[in-house]
Amino acid sequence: MNQEDVFRKLISHCKEYGFIFPSSEIYDGLSAVYDYGQNGAELKNNIKKYWWDSMVLLNEEVVGLDAAIFMHPMTWKASGHVDAFNDPLIDNKDSKKRYRADMLIEEKLAKYDDKISRDINKAKKRFGADFDEQQFVTTNPRVLANREKLDNLNKRFARAMNDSDLKELKQIIIDEEIACPVSGSKNWTDVRQFNLMFSTEMGSTAEGASTIYLRPETAQGIFVNYLNVQKTGRMKLPFGIAQIGKAFRNEIVARQFIFRMREFEQMEMQYFIRPGSELEFFENWKQRRMKWHKALGFNEDDYRFHDHDKLAHYANAATDIEFRFPFGFREVEGIHSRTDYDLGAHQKYSGKKIQYFDPEHNESYTPFVVETSIGLDRMFLQIVTAAYHEETLKKDDGKEDQRVVMKLPPALAPVKLAVLPLTKKDNLPEKARKIMYDLKFDFNCQYEEKDSIGRRYRRQDAIGTPYCITIDHQTLKDDTVTVRYRDSMEQERVSVESLRENIKEKVDITTLLKKL
Ligand code: GAP
Repeated sequence: MNQEDVFRKLISHCKEYGFIFPSSEIYDGLSAVYDYGQNGAELKNNIKKYWWDSMVLLNEEVVGLDAAIFMHPMTWKASGHVDAFNDPLIDNKDSKKRYRADMLIEEKLAKYDDKISRDINKAKKRFGADFDEQQFVTTNPRVLANREKLDNLNKRFARAMNDSDLKELKQIIIDEEIACPVSGSKNWTDVRQFNLMFSTEMGSTAEGASTIYLRPETAQGIFVNYLNVQKTGRMKLPFGIAQIGKAFRNEIVARQFIFRMREFEQMEMQYFIRPGSELEFFENWKQRRMKWHKALGFNEDDYRFHDHDKLAHYANAATDIEFRFPFGFREVEGIHSRTDYDLGAHQKYSGKKIQYFDPEHNESYTPFVVETSIGLDRMFLQIVTAAYHEETLKKDDGKEDQRVVMKLPPALAPVKLAVLPLTKKDNLPEKARKIMYDLKFDFNCQYEEKDSIGRRYRRQDAIGTPYCITIDHQTLKDDTVTVRYRDSMEQERVSVESLRENIKEKVDITTLLKKL
């Protein structure tokens, strides 16, 4: 099955099993806006908890914040978003489709990258254990040619973006012979800038109302509260403020399901530090964040850093943590060294002094900031992508069977334990209910008595439940149940008494946090 088909199946699986629905679907949905269903909401909450605890619980010097979505309009002038939070858009004159010029070029870059990876993989297969990748990539003429094209394009693209040179962006699209995916033509309009912030009016009368913006990032809520938190928490540098909340962007091209949405959630942490130490902390947070991702236990080769050539208007170093989605490696999280750009700008626009007195060095300064910024929805997509498996199983009678299983880390799974009476009679449901009642205070349990046990297992596999227990006639005699493990499908007889301790230990967020 090709990757596009896998992705299509994943999207319909997410809908069929109550993870994600198109927003206001009964009115045919709203483009690039989604709702999380009963299982999606649980998974999302578990991801939030993993992130929040890893920041606020494990680091004494990191505290939380929950700022409002609406902010004083001057915030966005100071942050640079009013003037510079733009995407370059371009239309194809034949299909009338609108694209982000930078994304068309990024797709071209990804194609060169894919060609290189394909050549490496082919050679790996051909030469087997003798394969020397380093030698291959430095000598193979095709790889070298594609690498040169990729590097040149990268440099040219970064320059054009840094200079906001719209003519050059169009010229790159022409020179690289980029065609519209719909019409196949290269008949393009000029490139224009488009501001991504949503605006609305606050106030009841037309004259008195003022234009305010829905925040396009949560970070500014942290910056404008820097003094409040530093003073009330008596915080010493370095310290961090973490926040989870909604952000809104009027994306021109919103596609790939929940990868690029118009309303989404961010989990951001701003780490305030002494100027001059930013690159050391930048490197440190880079490594720590990658460790957080890899602790989930998915394939390590599917993660990589992508250091930025093109820096945002506020950054002096930046990297992305990328994951291999079915449509290629894409950003999940950004780590940025934002200098004193934001605090400095808020100081200037508000007229309030935003300084830190450093007792160790006996001097005052505006702190520098290293930020870690991850999209919760994108992280959700990363997790379900990595967890989704289709398996062919051999049955006892020799025939084949299929199952779809979400191999979610148990600590993130929406339901931890399914409680399944073998039949609906002989007091088995009552016994099952009692066991469930005893366990439901510790973790999320689901009771199911309808259909055959095999079908119930499949339904639980499809939502990623790591443990199913079956209550049968023997349970009534000796207080034991069968535990069935999601990934291995093995079954084991255990005492009811031992369930809580055994399962709790494996499904607790602490199991992930201890790996950090
Ligand atoms: N405060 C810095 C900041 O907002 P960003 O790279 O623009 O940086 C950070 O966004 C993260 O937010 C991204 O890595 C991505 O995971 C997520 N994100 C950004 N735009 C998004 C969108 N339209 N839909 C879903 N997630 C998005």
